[in-house]
Amino acid sequence: MTTESVAPLVPEEKSTANPTYAKTSALDKISETAASHTKELDTEVQELRKRQNLFAQDLHGDDVSRTGITAILRKNKDAQKEAVSKYLKHWDGLTDKEAEEKRLADYNESTHSYYNVVTDFYEYGWGTSFHFSRYYPGENFQQATARHEHYLAHQAGIQDGDLVLDVGCGVGGPAREIARFTNCNVIGLNNNDYQIKKANYYAKKFGLQDQMRFVKGDFMNMEFEPNTFDKVYAIEATCHAPELSGVYGEIYKVLKPNGVFAVYEWVMTDKYDENNEEHRKIAYDIEVGDGIPKMFSRETAVKALESVGFEILKQEDLANTEDPVPWYYPLSGNWKYIQTLSDVATFFRTSFIGRVVTTNFLRVLEKVKLAPPGSVDVANSLESAAVGLVAGGEKGLFTPMMLFVCRKPAN
Ligand SMILES: C[S@@+](CC[C@H](N)C(=O)[O-])C[C@H]1O[C@@H](n2cnc3c(N)ncnc32)[C@H](O)[C@@H]1O
Repeated sequence: MTTESVAPLVPEEKSTANPTYAKTSALDKISETAASHTKELDTEVQELRKRQNLFAQDLHGDDVSRTGITAILRKNKDAQKEAVSKYLKHWDGLTDKEAEEKRLADYNESTHSYYNVVTDFYEYGWGTSFHFSRYYPGENFQQATARHEHYLAHQAGIQDGDLVLDVGCGVGGPAREIARFTNCNVIGLNNNDYQIKKANYYAKKFGLQDQMRFVKGDFMNMEFEPNTFDKVYAIEATCHAPELSGVYGEIYKVLKPNGVFAVYEWVMTDKYDENNEEHRKIAYDIEVGDGIPKMFSRETAVKALESVGFEILKQEDLANTEDPVPWYYPLSGNWKYIQTLSDVATFFRTSFIGRVVTTNFLRVLEKVKLAPPGSVDVANSLESAAVGLVAGGEKGLFTPMMLFVCRKPAN
């Protein structure tokens, strides 16, 4: 018998017996299949994708390692001007039906432009998870953010090895946390090219590139094969849909039978009255400042989930609690809510005073042509959002954490 070793037909690192290779090739296959379906899209949609990609490249450049103010100062100034005007063109103070119809019809381009101009502001204020959380006494901001993500993963029943879809994944903060927490594999879906690049960059930077991929797509028209994912979650993202049954129907389609979908949804609560002018103004401030074509009610969300076939296992408004620290505390400007010394800087950036300082700082930088034109307009629109969110939270008219846990029936 010879002891000479024979080179394996498939190199060991590329063998399916190698768990890392098996995992990454499954993730690659899903993202490649989705990308190949892109070719079947309408020419109009393909053109839009191409345009968005080129525009994002032009605006942000190749280097996505910078964040916050440093990234804002590096934008291509002409492209920034165009991005801001593209976004703000639908936000002219009008709340009538016609203005609303235009926003709904242009949801894709307008959300893409919105995240082109706010992503660096978000990272500056909030880090890489773009959502609110419940806050407990003594718990710092980052702990609260992670716990809020863990809770959703727990509610969805995400387990070791599950293939999970993150709908509207931002720059991947929640996906990285949930992947570490559960050891699942994640595909992040996003229609903003800059955020996708950043999410892939962070995955690699933090050594999670074998566990996740971030892909371009519109959650109203997903390109994954039906019955692909074990679990799906969405955090404060599906509110950008022009119609909730559209995005929920797509989630239902790509989820495996018996699979679970868990979401923190932004909705107007049962206290909200669309015909009350003060209420409508609060909803409009949230829409304009957050790139949302229309805020829907809790009831609309429930009907939409049921209409596409989901069985709702749980629904709970996590904002409607006796929490001593409200979810909107980072925007409130109330120093009494700060829990730890390490949160002072975060609170300063997100609070009213901090926002005034940042806006005035940007005003000076824009005047001396260091900051790209439109930076102050963006800061002002985020200010409307903050005002609407705090008013909506204080009056109990709005929640950013309506938790729905739903199952796709087995048959
Ligand atoms: C408030 S951010 C939340 C991001 C992320 N879930 C997090 O918590 O960090 C909303 C996200 O939804 C994405 N989004 C909005 N409309 C979308 C669409 N039509 N298709 C896919 N993603 C979309 C945005 O690009 C953004 O990443």
